[in-house]
Amino acid sequence: MLPSPRLMIAPMMGWTTASYRHFIRLLSKHVQLYTEMCSVNALIYNVAQRHYLLKCHAGEQPLGLQLGGSDPKLLVLAAQYAQDYGHTQINLNIGCPSTRVQHACFGAVLFKQPEHVANCVSALRAAVSLPITIKTRIAVDDHDSYSHLVHFIRTVNEAGCQVFIIHARKAWLHGLNPKKNRTIPPLRYDWVYQIKRDFPDLQIVLNGGIDTVEQIQTHLQQVDAVMIGRAAWHHPYLIALAEHRLHGTVLPDRLEILNRYIPYLQEQHAQGKTLNYLLAPLFGLFHKKSGARQWRHHLGVMLQKTPHLLFSNNVAEQLVSIAQDHLTVP
Ligand SMILES: Cc1cc2nc3c(=O)[nH]c(=O)nc-3n(C[C@H](O)[C@H](O)[C@H](O)COP(=O)(O)O)c2cc1C
Repeated sequence: MLPSPRLMIAPMMGWTTASYRHFIRLLSKHVQLYTEMCSVNALIYNVAQRHYLLKCHAGEQPLGLQLGGSDPKLLVLAAQYAQDYGHTQINLNIGCPSTRVQHACFGAVLFKQPEHVANCVSALRAAVSLPITIKTRIAVDDHDSYSHLVHFIRTVNEAGCQVFIIHARKAWLHGLNPKKNRTIPPLRYDWVYQIKRDFPDLQIVLNGGIDTVEQIQTHLQQVDAVMIGRAAWHHPYLIALAEHRLHGTVLPDRLEILNRYIPYLQEQHAQGKTLNYLLAPLFGLFHKKSGARQWRHHLGVMLQKTPHLLFSNNVAEQLVSIAQDHLTVP
């Protein structure tokens, strides 16, 4: 079992980068973070990439590495690296429907092969001491009966997985691209609730379409935790609001968060990270506040003008003064 975070940020390629995770950690001490999906090949055969993908910044934990792969030996090697780098959980991706991933035989296609996933989990359990978790869809293609989902969960649980993060949508491997696979198949929260009732001893995490603190609270009456993806990217302050409601923590103000992010921004920029990469998490900070549009506009202009310039105190001052000028804080 996991230490019991009730809120998780979904792994998202290109979005849940180290800079975004650092930013979210400023908004929430408790939320469980995940990396973007990392393919085992990228981690094993490319040393520079391995270091880039696995390096954790102080304070990121609890941080899970999401692995994309299906060869138990390679998964084990990648998980051992992750353990050495300080990750606190290994999550196996059983939900990615992209053609590239299908051709490499991992992601959502594995939902059709519960016994093989169980072998991967057994191998990982034998090799590392970290908890092994699964992120899956509720159905894939014609494997779309509730009984197949139950069979999948039972088989993989018997191999030692106790935590299932369930994206409450089916995936179609042909005809829908990954983006459409996140919107077109209908959400079936009832299936995930039923899984929790059928497997009361497992930790069941619901994912998909959750946008508000009220929705989070409603789902938490039925499942152990919720995972938020796009809403946490477009409106990161939602995570602070949710943490405040769930844990009674003091609500930080947005300007204070910005000020606390700037030293990290400067440090990482000095180490070669681009402004694009470092400013991306900030676009949604003032979501739903008056002036949010001007904030996004100014950040965009700043990126156009200065993407290659060294980050200076001047840029930091500009960020803070844009926020002060245009936004009612908090
Ligand atoms: C840009 C983007 C990239 C994603 N990359 C991953 C990924 O690497 N691994 C994964 O398991 N899911 C990935 N997903 C799916 C999310 O983790 C999540 O399951 C999905 O967005 C539904 O949750 P939401 O409605 O809260 O966004 C991605 C989603 C988006 C929008």
